[in-house]
Amino acid sequence: MPAEIIDGRKIAEEIREGLKERVAKLEERKMTPGLAVILVGEDPASLSYIRMIEREGEACGVHTQVIKLSSEIKQEELEEKIEELDQDAKFHGIILQLPLPKHLNALSAESKVSPDKDVDGTNPVSTGKLLLGEETFFPSTPYGVQQLLIRSGHDPAGKRVVICGRSNIVGKPLAAILMQKKVGANATVTICHTGTKDLVSVTREADILIAAMGRLKSVTADMVKEGAAVIDVGINPMKDPETGKTKIVGDVDFEGVKEKAAAITPVPGGIGPVTSVMLMENTIKAAELATGV
Ligand SMILES: NC(=O)c1ccc[n+]([C@@H]2O[C@H](COP(=O)([O-])OP(=O)(O)OC[C@H]3O[C@@H](n4cnc5c(N)ncnc54)[C@H](OP(=O)(O)O)[C@@H]3O)[C@@H](O)[C@H]2O)c1
Repeated sequence: MPAEIIDGRKIAEEIREGLKERVAKLEERKMTPGLAVILVGEDPASLSYIRMIEREGEACGVHTQVIKLSSEIKQEELEEKIEELDQDAKFHGIILQLPLPKHLNALSAESKVSPDKDVDGTNPVSTGKLLLGEETFFPSTPYGVQQLLIRSGHDPAGKRVVICGRSNIVGKPLAAILMQKKVGANATVTICHTGTKDLVSVTREADILIAAMGRLKSVTADMVKEGAAVIDVGINPMKDPETGKTKIVGDVDFEGVKEKAAAITPVPGGIGPVTSVMLMENTIKAAELATGV
């Protein structure tokens, strides 16, 4: 039987409805949640992601302001700007859009965002807290994957989860979230990467298989256990041979895998819409904590 298609847009809408109610409660206290998005240079992928964040901010009632900085900016100037935004009470969350131009150090810059405004959970303190299982903001994509699993009826608890990819923004934090001894987690997690020997034998053991490699259609049906849930985080541009237009394709060979999996996320329309709404959730939570709601 073909897989159930997990509808990320519908799940994002459900989450958004709850967020609007929380924003309304903050508005009663004359508080509008605010998010500062720092963009250095004009990376096209970053620009398109930021447009999505702005639209999501508007839909949820979060004041979202993009701060555009020159690609020539010096590390010291960038860090001063972040510190200035960190002191600004109208922003409850600050994100630094990556990648940065090569001469800049992202980790050092991200460290200037205080943990209570680090709504994408990327600075070293937030990362450490996540690993320790302490209260912190989860990075939005891994947080989105967890929510998508829970809300589509694929609670990771007790399941064998295999994550392909060990990046600092997806694979590692996702493993740290799903292995926590908490509700909606408590999975047995394996991470794969380019050093993994016999990848297929590992992925075939997964009850939940998560692809985050940035490799177009690299997860094929033979790599998937019958009845697994497959989450595709990949975003790969591909030229459509018929139209000549560029479209976005995931890491999973959707057509082949959907015949074997029990559930699968499409690209687009899977994890993408949930990611941006989770960023708003974190920003609203930061505003609630700042107001004591
Ligand atoms: N939907 C969203 O919201 C969202 C958000 C972020 C990223 N993404 C997408 O998710 C994908 C991954 O992003 P990322 O930033 O995590 O990428 P990344 O930093 O390039 O990391 C890719 C990871 O995949 C591993 N890998 C690559 N080829 C592999 C192979 N053939 N076999 C096994 N492992 C392999 C790499 O292993 P090594 O460590 O050994 O090199 C690395 O750990 C990209 O397509 C990105 O655009 C989507």
